[in-house]
Amino acid sequence: MSNSDLDTDEVAAIYDELLKTYQTEWSYRGHRSLHLEYYDEDHDEPGSAAMNTMRVLSEAARIDSSDRVLNIGCGAGEDSVWNARAHGATVVGVNISESQLELARENAAEHGVSDLTTFNYDDFQDLDTIDDDSMDVVWGLEALSHSPDPARALTAARRTLVDDGRVAFTDLFLSVDREDLTADQRERLDNIEDGLGLRISVLEQFEQTLDETGFENVLRRDLTDGIKRCTERRRSFARIAHPAGRLLSVFGVVSDTQLDRFSASADIDRLVEAGVLGYALVTADAA
Ligand SMILES: C[S@@+](CC[C@H](N)C(=O)[O-])C[C@H]1O[C@@H](n2cnc3c(N)ncnc32)[C@H](O)[C@@H]1O
Repeated sequence: MSNSDLDTDEVAAIYDELLKTYQTEWSYRGHRSLHLEYYDEDHDEPGSAAMNTMRVLSEAARIDSSDRVLNIGCGAGEDSVWNARAHGATVVGVNISESQLELARENAAEHGVSDLTTFNYDDFQDLDTIDDDSMDVVWGLEALSHSPDPARALTAARRTLVDDGRVAFTDLFLSVDREDLTADQRERLDNIEDGLGLRISVLEQFEQTLDETGFENVLRRDLTDGIKRCTERRRSFARIAHPAGRLLSVFGVVSDTQLDRFSASADIDRLVEAGVLGYALVTADAA
């Protein structure tokens, strides 16, 4: 994939290939989240810290039972189900992977919230299945970093929101311009983006894009310290899994996409450690 372009089919293919690994992880974790764990004093093990990421975002988004929430990049439904269960909110999740959508519907049924949730095949850069002025909140948990054109995605999001609507996102962001990265950091960023189908925004540019696409009162909270245990844990796991996976790949047991994920996880932690990659929660109101 080149850096200027990112095909949604390629992103979907990466997720579909990784689903086998994720499903194994979900079976022993007891949840289907695809996001980083946010640790704090009250959430100090992976399961509760993964729930905590959703709790922190939903608190910042001030979600309640009257809200219609549009979840862009809804994964296997975990954060949609969570908002329906925790707040009684009505949630529409969109994704570009039919297999994930299937898992999301199953997830909602297992938790008894099928009546509050709908899952649509839709690219969040267009939102063709969502009517204008039909949503109170657009929620994105580590989704927009898959967009090569955040302005397009935010314009689509704004169109779906009512006049007093709001957006809430958590994601990885660069804290420096790409040109200011060292050659080694640039190479690692390329490895992360190619491996996981990402196009990570510079935080300040993202905030400016919100301003330019019809949002105001942009607020940012730095959550980087809380996700470090998660990125470190994934890097430690990759230290073993990557060489072992390379051996197993000879027998076709582990795919290149899985190997790329291990390598990308290690590089995320390296760039977080170097202070050039961070994790932020950004909220804004429709202007
Ligand atoms: C890191 S996962 C997060 C999933 C979910 N929010 C969670 O926390 O478990 C990102 C999700 O965005 C989806 N995605 C990526 N690009 C997309 C696009 N253009 N339109 C809709 N969904 C997209 C991926 O398929 C994946 O489900």
